[in-house]
Amino acid sequence: RCRHCSKIRAVAAPEKQEVRTSLRRNENIGKLQAGYLFPEIAKRRRAHQEKFPDAHVISLGIGDTTEPITGFVADAMKQAADGLGTRQGYSGYGSEQGNPKLREAICNRFYASLGRQPQEIFVSDGSKCDIGRMQMMFGSGAKVAVQDPSYPAYVDSSVMIGQTGGYSETGYDGIEYMVCRPENDFFPDLSQVRPADLIFFCSPNNPTGAAATREQLQQLVDFASANGSVVIYDAAYSLYISDANCPKSIFEIPGAETCCVETCSFSKYAGFTGVRLGWTVVPEQLRYADGQQVIKDWNRVTNTIFNGASNIAQAGGLACLEPQGMKEMQQTIDFYKENAGILYSTFEELGFKVHGGKNAPYIWIAIPGKPSWDTFADILERTHIVTTPGSGFGPAGEGFVRASAFGHRDDIMEAVRRFKEAYGKSS
Ligand code: MLT
Repeated sequence: RCRHCSKIRAVAAPEKQEVRTSLRRNENIGKLQAGYLFPEIAKRRRAHQEKFPDAHVISLGIGDTTEPITGFVADAMKQAADGLGTRQGYSGYGSEQGNPKLREAICNRFYASLGRQPQEIFVSDGSKCDIGRMQMMFGSGAKVAVQDPSYPAYVDSSVMIGQTGGYSETGYDGIEYMVCRPENDFFPDLSQVRPADLIFFCSPNNPTGAAATREQLQQLVDFASANGSVVIYDAAYSLYISDANCPKSIFEIPGAETCCVETCSFSKYAGFTGVRLGWTVVPEQLRYADGQQVIKDWNRVTNTIFNGASNIAQAGGLACLEPQGMKEMQQTIDFYKENAGILYSTFEELGFKVHGGKNAPYIWIAIPGKPSWDTFADILERTHIVTTPGSGFGPAGEGFVRASAFGHRDDIMEAVRRFKEAYGKSS
């Protein structure tokens, strides 16, 4: 049985296929234990749907937004698209780093009071893509630490780029897993963490939903500074934070500018998971050991393997940051947070130990006693509801499942009804 996805693996002799190339497979890709988590879940969902063709399967699995893009933002993109069909409105390649107006607007909205400059903001097609490009920039020699559990793109991209050894029950050799569980309030005990070159840190965390406090983030920055590490801070869900003591940006923390980059996205704020728009902030003060600026390399990478975000998406991003766009974005976030509250109290009422949901669109539910892939299968079988097994996010995710709060309200209410029916006391 595969530890990673709990699938039974038959060890069969490879089928004889005609081979015409002499190309050797990248051995790092060969180290990956399973397919990427979310396509794997989608595959199981499809199989379930085939088995129960009449079932209305509800997805609380991948954190994909469901609500329409709000009017003001959608109109701005319509106008941009219409403009492309005219001589005056047409534009071809833009700047690889992003429309300067958008860089400025992002800076003014989120970072100007934190000392960041528009030229440090690089607009992109999303945080996940930036993480991949960053791994390429830092290269195979970097040693990586991650929160455990964490968003799987960090670890999988480290494996692909060659920063790790093979896989065992405790994870990939060479990755420093910083365990985050209820016992440590989902913040790693840094005194037990071996220093790494790169530390991936996501707050509010995906999947646990835990938002780090100011004091905890100061500890993280101090730890990184003391050990010469760079923190890749993933703030993709930061606008979901309502706790005043939990910073929305790592640059609220003194000292972050010399040891952190931050990546963020419009995906979960404005429903841009399909539109694709995000950004990464690289402070000019961040330098390699030899004194060279990281921002220069990031610019070089951006120029070389990225042609800039879609001009239509960037028009949408600009609209998001206007007062009306910000208001609408907040309404969308509030809607998903209400969903999170509904799911949280449902699981709590059912007697589960529940985490997250207050500063994040994810609920992290403890269901110990069997592999989380089995729990995932059990929930799917009994309720036709897709969740995400905790072990898909790292070894310390075992014993948990994640429920995403992205969903239409009627689906969330129907999910609540099914959970109560399947897991209530009388069932
Ligand atoms: C998730 O479900 O963890 C995310 O939606 C996936 C992503 O943002 O790529």
